[in-house]
Amino acid sequence: MGKLIFDDTSEQHKLEDGSPIAEICEEAGIPFACTEGICGTCVIEVVEGMENLSEFTQEEEDFLGDMDNERLACQCKLKGDTVKIKF
Ligand code: FES
Repeated sequence: MGKLIFDDTSEQHKLEDGSPIAEICEEAGIPFACTEGICGTCVIEVVEGMENLSEFTQEEEDFLGDMDNERLACQCKLKGDTVKIKF
C-alpha cells in the first residue's frame, strides 16, 4: 500500500501498489483532458518520492523533454511507499 500526498493541502490518499494516480488527482482538482499523455494538461510537480512512481512513459518523454521533477498525472502509477506532489 502506497500513499499519495498533495503538498499544498497535506491531503493524503492510500493507494494499492501499482495503481494509477489519475483518479485521485482528478478528485483533488488537477485538470485532465486527453488522458493519453499528449496534451500536457495534467502536469504535476513531484516534490518527494519520484523513485516511487512508474518509469516515464514515451509520451512523457516526448512532452516533458528533460525529465526532472515534472510528470504527467495521467501516465503515472504509484509503485509503493510515499509520493508527494503539487500542481
Ligand atoms: S491529460 Fe493530457 S497529458 Fe495527461
